[in-house]
This record gives sequence, C-alpha cells and structure tokens, in this order.
Amino acid sequence: MIVVLVGPPGAGKGTQAKVVCALFEIPQISTGDMLRAAKKAGTLDRKYLEIMDAGGLVPDEAMIELIDRRIDESDCARGFLLDGFPRTVPQAQALDALLAKRGRKLDAVIQLDVPRSLLEERLTGRRTDKTSGQIYHLVYNPPPAGAELEHRADDRPETVGKRLDSYEAMTAALLPYYDKAGLLRRVDGVGKPEEVTERALAALPSGTVRKAE
Ligand code: AP5
Repeated sequence: MIVVLVGPPGAGKGTQAKVVCALFEIPQISTGDMLRAAKKAGTLDRKYLEIMDAGGLVPDEAMIELIDRRIDESDCARGFLLDGFPRTVPQAQALDALLAKRGRKLDAVIQLDVPRSLLEERLTGRRTDKTSGQIYHLVYNPPPAGAELEHRADDRPETVGKRLDSYEAMTAALLPYYDKAGLLRRVDGVGKPEEVTERALAALPSGTVRKAE
C-alpha cells in the first residue's frame, strides 16, 4: 500500500501516520521529520533551515531528491506512507514519475480536514518526546511526568499563521490534482485521535492488506 497523508499543519498527520504504519507494518516517510533529523545532525543546508524555521516551503528539487533516495530503501518494499510530501503540484508530478519508474503507483491520498480555528491551538500546545519522537499535546494528550520534551521552532505563535497561509495557498492546486486522478479521500480530522484513525482506515481502498491483529 502506498498512501499520501495531506492536511494542514496540526491536522494530526504525524499522530495518525504512526498508528496506520504500525497497523500495516509500513514505514512512515515524513519529510518534516527527515529535515528536522538533518537539522539536529547539523547536515541541513543553512538556507533550508531558515526557510523551515520561518514556516516556508523548502524547494521542490531538494524534497524530490530526498524521496527518490528514501523509497529505494528495503523497508519500502511492501509499501509506505508519505506524511508531508507531496506539498506542491510539481512534487506530486515528480512522485508519479518516481513511482512509475519503479513500476509502482499511489493507492490513495487521505486528506485530513480540520478547521483553521482549531489548528493554532493544536500547534502551539504540541510537544514531542526528544528520544522517541512521540507526539503529545499539553491539553489533549499530556506527556508523562519526567518526559524530555521538545517544542518545535516552527510551532511558535508568530510562525504558525504563516505555515497555515502557505498550506492554504499550496493545496489550492494540489488537492484538485489528486481529486482529478480519483485518488483523494477526505476524512474529518476533528474528534478523538482514535475516532480519526477509524475514519482514515475506512477511507483506505478496499483490498489493502491490514496486519493481522
Ligand atoms: P512537517 O513536519 O511536515 O509539518 P506540518 O505539515 O506543518 O505538519 P505538522 O507536523 O505541524 O502537523 P501534523 O499534521 O503532523 O500534526 P500532529 O500529528 O503533530 O513540515 C515542517 C516543515 O518542513 C514545513 O513547514 C516545511 O518548511 C518543511 N517541509 C516538509 N515537507 C516539505 C515538502 N514536501 N516540501 C517543502 N517543504 C517541506 O498533531 C499536532 C498536535 O495536535 C499535536 O500536539 C497532537 O498531539 C495534537 N492532535 C493530533 N490529533 C489530535 C486530535 N484528533 N485532537 C486533538 N489534538 C490532536
């Protein structure tokens, strides 16, 4: 199964991706996580770091190159879930070409819908476990006592608005691209995370193999 998860910053892509990937035993490929890992390792180009921290989009070519290499890794053989890629029509077209070159194709694009009024609160309250990467929220999913937490640089209130604006601008073209291809499935992202998971699973194409429970 090859699936793309799209949705605005804070929609719950990372939260849902972890559950779906565990269930299907496929890797989560998050371009945001890959960029943050490079930032931590000190290998991220300074100009990309500045773009990210300011809430902008890293250039398409850099992101496409990252995905081109990643999907050849052995853990992607049974499928994978893309979280945060593609974000633009050129990225979506490049993904189609990368998959076609390998004789593979996308099964579905799941769009998580959450109104903007809820997103700012979700983002500014998010904290991530430094070691495990587990995502928490100070109110909705409080971290355990003693956890070592990180607050993402781009989750500060002054950056969040810019990220939401850039998402709205970019999806104006990306979502119709996938709708036209018959791949887009909209899922209501409001409610308890477990409820959203059930809706996302129901939106996956029938016939996709789910790990035996
Ligand atoms: P990326 O890391 O992809 O960030 P994003 O798309 O902005 O998404 P987020 O990670 O902020 O949110 P999410 O939807 O995963 O929500 P989460 O599950 O954490 O990208 C970061 C940056 O990298 C970009 O801005 C860009 O600069 C660059 N980049 C990455 N990919 C790129 C690309 N392809 N092209 C160009 N640039 C790229 O949940 C958020 C919070 O809400 C958490 O606290 C969580 O606990 C809580 N929550 C989740 N679900 C619920 C629920 N149902 N109810 C209540 N709270 C909930």
